[in-house]
Amino acid sequence: MKKKALFASAIALMGIGLIGSCAISTARYDMGDAISFETGYYGFVARGVGTVTRVRGVSRTGNYSLLVTGRQESWNGITVNVSRQAIPFDDHEFELWVMPAQDAGAVTFQLSAEFVLRGHTIWRHFSGPLSNVTAQPGVWTRMSGFRPFYDFDTVNIYIETDAAGATASFYIDDVAFRHIIEEFVIEDLPSLHEVYADYFLFGTAVLPRDMRGPRFEFIQRHFNAITAGNDMKPEYLQPQPGVFTFDIADGIVETALDHGMTMIGHTLVWHTQSPGWMNPPGISREQAIENLVNHVTTVVSRYRGRVHAWDVVNEAFPSSVTHNPSDWRSNLRRTPWLDAIGYEFIEIAFRAAHAADPDAILYYNDYNLNQPGKREAVFHMVRELRERGVPIHGIGMQGHYSLTTPPRQVEDSIRRFSELGVKISITELDITVDHAQGWERLTPAAERMQAILFAQLFMIFRAHSDVIERVTLWGLDDGTSWRADRFPLPFNRNLSAKMAYFAILDPEGFLRENGVLVD
Ligand code: XIL
Repeated sequence: MKKKALFASAIALMGIGLIGSCAISTARYDMGDAISFETGYYGFVARGVGTVTRVRGVSRTGNYSLLVTGRQESWNGITVNVSRQAIPFDDHEFELWVMPAQDAGAVTFQLSAEFVLRGHTIWRHFSGPLSNVTAQPGVWTRMSGFRPFYDFDTVNIYIETDAAGATASFYIDDVAFRHIIEEFVIEDLPSLHEVYADYFLFGTAVLPRDMRGPRFEFIQRHFNAITAGNDMKPEYLQPQPGVFTFDIADGIVETALDHGMTMIGHTLVWHTQSPGWMNPPGISREQAIENLVNHVTTVVSRYRGRVHAWDVVNEAFPSSVTHNPSDWRSNLRRTPWLDAIGYEFIEIAFRAAHAADPDAILYYNDYNLNQPGKREAVFHMVRELRERGVPIHGIGMQGHYSLTTPPRQVEDSIRRFSELGVKISITELDITVDHAQGWERLTPAAERMQAILFAQLFMIFRAHSDVIERVTLWGLDDGTSWRADRFPLPFNRNLSAKMAYFAILDPEGFLRENGVLVD
């Protein structure tokens, strides 16, 4: 948990996590006194062009406030880095008072946040009636907004104005930042993994913090297979040459095994979330092979006998394949591994993994495998490699679907891959609802459509359970999903069941009730 520093003197960050069985409510962090800049800037600095000055004599409370001047764009002005107080994936509230300078005219303000994760930046507005307000010059006006946070390395909160107010000067005072804890709602509902015990393993992808407390209780209820959502990827396990960082992965694996769950390894060879030193441009083929084999061997050996199955190679093909799918080599995704080693990187990886743990089930894993061209390319690759004795035992269909995914195509792929005599797993299932408006709203109609697609897919998975080893959902709940803006999972952010849960529980019944299946 990230706590401490900056606001610590002014805002007490402490909260209570409650497990309820029915109530859906939120408990707020106790905020203590708001910051009124009596003793300093509290981390507030200029954003873009502009100057932030602590001024005496103009203030809402106390003697001081901050004055923002010299702005040139609507997003210029003032910002505060709250990375050390904020908690990824949780809700936060930010409150302050603003006052346009006397010569500024009325100004419309908006509260916003900037999230930076692995060098990638996104900007989001806070929501709520006071997150966007128009303030008159010389009049202190309250603003407050709510925002579920994404995962982040850095998060900055800032105040922007509309275009008309782009150069306006203004004051701020009495700032508070609160972390809102949601009570988890662990309902007494049938266990998904028990309902599916005769069909296949039922898994989920986890973040480290899911492996304890109420979230882990929830996992134990519904899932019997665990995939680390990030923590076993190359960038996490070997950030620098020969420097392996296993602590977090070890903890996840141990906890999973201690509780009788099946551990899945994800992933060994991939073009993202992998450190650049492994295969930089110009590296010799020999060195690249050595790096690849060393990584695979070290990681698989460490978890030998404990990780049941590995996603050995992830996403070796592009999103869609349109030409000549049977010529799989010419269709491979252009990646650093391909550039450095050639198409043989795939079989080298599988052979190294097999040598390190001959009992582990080795998967080729990819998305859009329902797409006919990509399906065929993967089919031909796996067939040829297996004919040549390369130890590929399974195909992982990631299953990042949307409301427009045709279930029939998914079934066609399961049928096609099963011709190869390999196991099939749905390794990263979620269904995004793209037209959902913003964070707060998943309309009942959209929720129902999503549930229907889940039901249709699970009808198919049940029908093919002889070849399906496992179905894993990519995350626990809509709030912590990697696609948290699109409500992709069967559980709400407080872990309560969505319609999709009931659809998965009894797909046939659900489809009948909703008139999709009729006698
Ligand atoms: C995602 C994680 O869920 C995110 O937290 C991370 O920022 C990016 O990767 N295909 C995969 C997974 O194989 O590893 C990806 O996981 C989702 C797409």
